[in-house]
Amino acid sequence: MLRTKKIRKFFPAIKAGRIISNNAASTQVPVQLLDLLKKLVVQYDNVHRGQSRSSLITTEKFEASYDTIAQFINAPSRKNIILFRNATEAINAVMYSLLTEFKDGDNVVTTFMEHNSNYVPWYGLCKEILPKFGVKVECRLAKFNKETGELDLEHLKSLVDKRTKLVCAVGASNFLGTINPLKEIKAIADASGYLQPSGEARSYVLIDGAQIVPNMLIDVRELDIDFLAWSFHKMLAPFGVGALYGKEELLVKMKPFLYGGDMIAEGQVSPEKVAFNSLPWKFTAGTPNILGTILSAQAIRLLIDFALDPRRHKYFLADNKLEAADIKKAMAEIKAHEQALVGEALKILGSMPSLTIFGPKDPTRRTSLVAFSCQDKSPFAIAEGLSKLGVESRAGCHCATLAHHYYKLNPPASCRLSFYIYNDLEDVDRACWAVKKCIN
Ligand SMILES: Cc1ncc(COP(=O)(O)O)c(C=O)c1O
Repeated sequence: MLRTKKIRKFFPAIKAGRIISNNAASTQVPVQLLDLLKKLVVQYDNVHRGQSRSSLITTEKFEASYDTIAQFINAPSRKNIILFRNATEAINAVMYSLLTEFKDGDNVVTTFMEHNSNYVPWYGLCKEILPKFGVKVECRLAKFNKETGELDLEHLKSLVDKRTKLVCAVGASNFLGTINPLKEIKAIADASGYLQPSGEARSYVLIDGAQIVPNMLIDVRELDIDFLAWSFHKMLAPFGVGALYGKEELLVKMKPFLYGGDMIAEGQVSPEKVAFNSLPWKFTAGTPNILGTILSAQAIRLLIDFALDPRRHKYFLADNKLEAADIKKAMAEIKAHEQALVGEALKILGSMPSLTIFGPKDPTRRTSLVAFSCQDKSPFAIAEGLSKLGVESRAGCHCATLAHHYYKLNPPASCRLSFYIYNDLEDVDRACWAVKKCIN
């Protein structure tokens, strides 16, 4: 288990007595980042837009943040990292940037367990946008097993064919908790034979990493995926920054998503031609979320420090490169901690016969959340009851609307508890026993 006693001291929200068990939506911000924000405003200035010392210092910190983010997921360099407002915008960026590459008769394969952020953009592409240009592209959905919560790989395989340009899958479901087998998904996409404009014969793979990047080791080179999207507000940073990892050779060829501002090569605008900036700035139109970017990268550094030893800052505010062995160890500790918490939640909630728990029974197959429904009480009534008992949860479809309909839940809703590095077994026990109180 992580040293939660030490970690918890750094979170004002926890010191205020909150039992925070809605972390799959957003996590809390530690005091180190709040203090850093105050320090940063002394040199507050725009990036790439000034010769003042403040602008140069801020630019350096901003650019270095891309290196930290790249190192964290083992991306080759900052050129692979594009920052947006959130994971949803990052996925939309892939959709809009690839839009002109789709050919009549192509398809996109995604799954019934997606967050709407990784389904609705593809729905929009296939049903709203491309038909206006006379291009028919199908969006196909792979099933999952209702009992086990596991993705049906055979069904996924049967949907992928030589007209599948892209396979899009969630890394871990924010409703079922299921961690998807990314290597198997990649192998299925590789075998499709789709002829990409580069001459490669395979489907691209986009992984929605919103529920995996904050919780476990993700090595994009080992997974060999093409795109990975996630958000920093689920891993200690404040709201406002999401990331897209993309393979450099794809990003170089892709159309920009947003046009204007920093994405233009210096001075290269004429009525005839506009040349685009080099990566990653080609995808950074307009003034970016500068402070948010710096805080997001420092959140990564702090997360690793908290997991390795919360008494010591090896990476936070240091210029050092993140060592692969430390990232591996830290993320393994976080995963093990979360599995212990979710195992405890499954044990207690599983002892309540009126509850249906969704997703895998085995905590090692899940990320750190548990969603459930109750035969006698609406999820909203449970969540409101929990709130009265001081326990924070979430009721609703959690934007996993397809999956809630898949179970024919009416209303399409469940109640969800989700944990992060500052939660301990006591939080889990209090939250689960509060559920018992609410359903009785
Ligand atoms: C699996 C998954 N994908 C995508 C998102 C969307 O993230 P954001 O709101 O940062 O765009 C979430 C957020 O809950 C999520 O859990």
